[in-house]
Amino acid sequence: MSGELSPIDTAKFVAAKRAVQYVEDGMKVGLGTGSTAAWMVRCLGERIRTEGLKITGVPTSTRTADLARQVGIEVTTLDDAKWLDLTIDGTDEYDPDLCLIKGGGGAHLQEKIVATASDRMVVIADPTKAVDMLGAFPLPIEVIPFGVNATKGLVEELLTAMDVLGTEAVLREKGGEPFVTDEGNQIIDLHLKRIDDPRKLSMVLNQVPGVVENGLFIDICDAVVIGHGDGRVEVIDINEGTHEEDRIAFADSDNIFADI
Ligand code: 5RP
Repeated sequence: MSGELSPIDTAKFVAAKRAVQYVEDGMKVGLGTGSTAAWMVRCLGERIRTEGLKITGVPTSTRTADLARQVGIEVTTLDDAKWLDLTIDGTDEYDPDLCLIKGGGGAHLQEKIVATASDRMVVIADPTKAVDMLGAFPLPIEVIPFGVNATKGLVEELLTAMDVLGTEAVLREKGGEPFVTDEGNQIIDLHLKRIDDPRKLSMVLNQVPGVVENGLFIDICDAVVIGHGDGRVEVIDINEGTHEEDRIAFADSDNIFADI
């Protein structure tokens, strides 16, 4: 069955399969959003079915909550869970310091709150997500709908004074209408091309009235698990200063493929 997966899906799957090894019985786990995170949710469901693993999941979007329930994960809210042992999530970019751009799926606000309320954040990625400098992927900012054009104008103005290569700001749309997040907000994507000082940019953006949260994750991610199309996985742990390589064996019987 695994032979039917494309190399990119295999990469996402093996990263997810390796990352769920961090999950232990009784843990409260933040569940990320996106196609890579969806593999992780399925892999956790498989561990629940085959090993009787007992965990509580805190999803970062309604999409993830729906999938988590489908695969048998007990779901709760962050307020009920209070604090999490671990969050596993995907990313749009990661740099050598494991700073991230997230929010391509429009869920970075909940993702950032959940990851920050966790002892540890493990990111799962395929090799296309690695960058030397953040910014090729458009940086999402979640903004409240009231006065969205005024907010956009202010953000564009401040970008001219920042160490970035591009300053274009685009209101995200879906089906010809503004994209609406789970929190009822909108997203502006910033086409910056290169971000020289992500820490400063993150602080400055969040000062603009109307901006709820930006998609830069600075000093939040502890480790990244990078899957490859041939089944190899690399694990980079920023706290341990380690970079290890492993290989994931995936059996044809892995029943998480059943719904693909
Ligand atoms: C959603 C995210 C996702 O983690 C990010 O967009 C990566 O998605 P994918 O795994 O589908 O490439 O930040 O808000």
